[in-house]
Amino acid sequence: MGYQTDAVHAGQHPEESTGAVITPIFQTATYAQEAPAVHKGYEYGRTGNPTRLALEQNLAALERGKFAYAFGSGMAATATVSQLLRGGDHVICTANVYGGTARYFRQVMAQFGLQIDLVDTSQIANLERVWRKETKMLFVETPTNPLLILSDLRALAAFCHDRQALLVVDNTFMSPYFQRPLELGADIVLHSTTKFINGHSDVVGGIVITNRPEIAERLAFLQNAVGAVPSPFDCWLILRATKTLPLRMRQINANAMTIAEFLQSDRRIQKVYYPGLKNHPQRELALRQQLDPYGQPGFGGMISFDLPDFETAKRFLTGIKLFTLAESLGGVESLICHPTSMTHASVPAEERRRIGLSDGLVRLAVGIEDVEDLIADLEHGLERV
Ligand SMILES: Cc1ncc(COP(=O)(O)O)c(C=O)c1O
Repeated sequence: MGYQTDAVHAGQHPEESTGAVITPIFQTATYAQEAPAVHKGYEYGRTGNPTRLALEQNLAALERGKFAYAFGSGMAATATVSQLLRGGDHVICTANVYGGTARYFRQVMAQFGLQIDLVDTSQIANLERVWRKETKMLFVETPTNPLLILSDLRALAAFCHDRQALLVVDNTFMSPYFQRPLELGADIVLHSTTKFINGHSDVVGGIVITNRPEIAERLAFLQNAVGAVPSPFDCWLILRATKTLPLRMRQINANAMTIAEFLQSDRRIQKVYYPGLKNHPQRELALRQQLDPYGQPGFGGMISFDLPDFETAKRFLTGIKLFTLAESLGGVESLICHPTSMTHASVPAEERRRIGLSDGLVRLAVGIEDVEDLIADLEHGLERV
């Protein structure tokens, strides 16, 4: 089926007893059994739920994967994936990964004997430098937040598979509409469905997707054994949102491209980070790797840009009205944030300087509003710069 058709239909069928077109919210903790162990495929709400299954099948189809498992947050998805490992194993993670992911590996999994190195995964030489015989997983985010550095997923998959390690990709930033890492060789893809997949800033959730049956079997076991599952209502909300994922992503991408070009043409802005811009150093990789299901390149809705310093950024941000000053991303409404004081405040100043994250950096998460209104809002902010 075509991608838009899958977005609307995959995993969903009219409900058998009533014909309800929309998959109901099966808000139940348990299921009646006809006789001991004789049931309709569902025993207990943590183990399985029809609304959750519909969401899992829908998202498996959109990532072009076979097996998907839903979780109560993106972090619950990451935590469950990390439980595929054992104490003593070594993980390499993208240095500029979502802060909560780095915190989880460093401050939680390290207590259980997991070893972790964070490196710039855009350069394979960095992996060679820290690779050990215990390395079992490479955990990659591309593009990174907020500097939008890309890693070459096809090359990383080949590198990992030569060494019998798993490539895990956090695909939250691109959504499956503009990047499908399983098609590029990744073993596991995960998302914070809180972001583009749900797209309405009203649910916290996560999903893990794979094509490999032995990994799927273990993930199904862990989903039940660990139990970090989402509520049926949250699954229903996300399922409602995925029907419009292609439409939203196309509008977000078009808006973001126009805004990135506007920002780049403004002399008050020092540097714009957006892989769709002709001068982005990894544009060629973006054109190869970030493709919609119909083969057209897409660059997503995240844009960052440098203002001279924190004071200027503050003046700019207080002039903005339509973009809401808030953390998070991926919703239909545009958000704006100042990474140094907000999303990345926990990254030590020295580390921020090392990776090039300046105090004047501003990050946009572009939504689906009229682009003229978004640009007018940015112009108001720039008048104060
Ligand atoms: C790229 C990325 N991965 C994972 C997460 C964690 O997801 P959640 O907040 O749904 O637990 C986030 C949250 O911001 C994120 O941006």
